[in-house]
Amino acid sequence: MPAQRKLFVTTALPYANGNFHIGHIMEYIQADIWVRHQRMQGSDVNFVGANDAHGAPIMIAAEKAGKTPQQFVADIAAGRKPYLDGFHIRFDNWHSTDGPENHELARQVYLDLKANGLIETRVIEQFFDPEKNMFLPDRFIKGECPRCHSKDQYGDNCEVCGAVYAPTDLINPYSALSGATPVLRSSEHFFFRLSDPRCVQFLERWTQDGRLQPEVANKVREWFTVRENADGTKSEGLGDWDISRDAPYFGIEIPDAAGKYFYVWLDAPIGYLASLKNLLDRRGQDYAAYMADPALEQVHFIGKDIVTFHTLFWPAMLKFSGRKTPDNIFVHGFLTVNNGEKMSKSRGTGLDPLKYLSLGMNPEWLRYYLAAKLSGRNEDIDFNPEDFMARVNSDLIGKYVNIASRAVKFVPGGKLTGTGASLAAIDASALCESVRSLYESRDYARALREIMAAADLVNTAFDHAAPWKLAKEGKGAEAAAVGSYCLEMFKVLTACLRPVLPELATQAQAFLKCAALDWSNAATPMGEGHVVGDYKHLMQRVDAKQLDALFEAPAGEQAPAGQPAAQSPPEGEASAPGGEEIAPGITIDDFARVDLRIAKILNCEAVEGSTKLLRLTLDVGEGRTRNVFSGIASAYKPQDLVGKLTVMVANLAPRKMKFGISEGMVLAASDADDKAGGIYVLNPWPGAQPGMRVR
Ligand code: 2FM
Ligand code: ZN
Repeated sequence: MPAQRKLFVTTALPYANGNFHIGHIMEYIQADIWVRHQRMQGSDVNFVGANDAHGAPIMIAAEKAGKTPQQFVADIAAGRKPYLDGFHIRFDNWHSTDGPENHELARQVYLDLKANGLIETRVIEQFFDPEKNMFLPDRFIKGECPRCHSKDQYGDNCEVCGAVYAPTDLINPYSALSGATPVLRSSEHFFFRLSDPRCVQFLERWTQDGRLQPEVANKVREWFTVRENADGTKSEGLGDWDISRDAPYFGIEIPDAAGKYFYVWLDAPIGYLASLKNLLDRRGQDYAAYMADPALEQVHFIGKDIVTFHTLFWPAMLKFSGRKTPDNIFVHGFLTVNNGEKMSKSRGTGLDPLKYLSLGMNPEWLRYYLAAKLSGRNEDIDFNPEDFMARVNSDLIGKYVNIASRAVKFVPGGKLTGTGASLAAIDASALCESVRSLYESRDYARALREIMAAADLVNTAFDHAAPWKLAKEGKGAEAAAVGSYCLEMFKVLTACLRPVLPELATQAQAFLKCAALDWSNAATPMGEGHVVGDYKHLMQRVDAKQLDALFEAPAGEQAPAGQPAAQSPPEGEASAPGGEEIAPGITIDDFARVDLRIAKILNCEAVEGSTKLLRLTLDVGEGRTRNVFSGIASAYKPQDLVGKLTVMVANLAPRKMKFGISEGMVLAASDADDKAGGIYVLNPWPGAQPGMRVR
């Protein structure tokens, strides 16, 4: 077994403005498996998390909810436990970036950076909402990403391509608070001088010395040479980082700068340290001494969307404030459901973790399934319900769990006999060492493949030995030897699965009556004469009905099973259906405000003086007719439309046009990029009557 390590492990700190979604749970499960594996080799681990409490979005959400930000955050924090306990995710501490430790540490880090000449102030132009009368926080300015041109991206970074930029870099910005076009106003801001040659030199080494995943290091390398500006121009090298925000802001006040607060991303990662300090303080351990131990390794599990913060700003902040820098950043991709959309942080949809639990679905099914997909590389993975059911039922239960129930029947009194020669070609020590090292490199997918391949060998050996025949032939001792061998192997496999399936392993250990399994005893036989307990069924199979219920859209929503309503194109695909991105999500109530009705076209005629418009006389079942102008003259001759049914927006405010008043709008389809591709007026299926509502 390798030397015991001293580890400080974190997952990204979730914003305290919403419940966990499946993307959070995946990251926590990934880290939890790694931590459990480390503990199995005797490493001393502190695994901490916290709520990321600060920032304007939380301040604004709290205001909307009629709460103080502190109360708002506390309410969200109170909801974390059912998720963490529910999925067997065992953090040693869960704290808040608004705790006193973080206020203190963030100020200290800042003052140390300042003393080191890496903070400067500059007057910058910033967006101001003239209707709301306040500087607009990044997340409340939306517009088109300057890098990948995705629409409706936030002012600080793009959820689609991961670009980090200033709000003023957005194309066609608008205030998400009022809808107004923001205006520029001057304000003094504080900057962390990341462009300082000391930072650049340090980061070039730190990011390229082999610690990061190759795909991550390659991406980061590009940022040292070329920085893409908003307007499409490129600058050389790293840019300085704006770390302040003006009041009103929910955050940590900057020392000696009234009305100025640290930008949330300055104090968020410091929250890792604050949560650790809070834990150590409560245990009566010395934080400074803990951090000063050269043997300590610090690793952060994060998603690919926050790599910039963790591989540039964070290590530089730590280094130049005289602190320990992270030993590694483990980056994972996004999780999609049914090859669907990204599990966006702010719009997480698809697989609701609490619903999963409330349906009585076993949390360890999900842990197993996600582990079977996680390779340790920065790549997206997909949750597919059929695949989920197959892997759990056929592999986990069909191959592993069944070994115990099949084998124990042939071992009278549960007393293991000598197993004689190995029945299957499995070298238990080699298997455990290989699986152990795959956990180490976070290639859980391969670890589980090796475990299941070994389980296959055990089952095949059992089938070939046919202990049921041996028993019938009066060869009970031979049958008991087969059963004993399979139970020994079941124990080895249990040890190998323990980081992924802690609860199942606990039950299996209870059945086997063996000591808690770790990497030091995983391959050691329980031995002749060891008595196992009574077998109780260890795990239920997934029922397809549970999956149907899990993906059933809540009443009033019409997303098909397994597919959330589409909101953004899948990562890496420049798909803009019909030439434009799907508009930002709306609620069913928003939709209900638009009154769509079946309309009969009683008359249709050309409009003199217009080549584009046709004048329609519509019957919407109101006992009167409506006059509507529609820009469809290029596509239809008036006589084509007379007598036909279509769909109209019946509650659109009447609009005065050059040719008369238009009392609604007829619906037609066209491609945004290719108007020449045609305009197609909507026509309902036969049976619809004028006046019927379309919903
Ligand atoms: O992206 C996010 O959800 C951030 N709240 C992550 C912060 S990680 C760390 F820096 F605190
Ligand atoms: Zn983008």
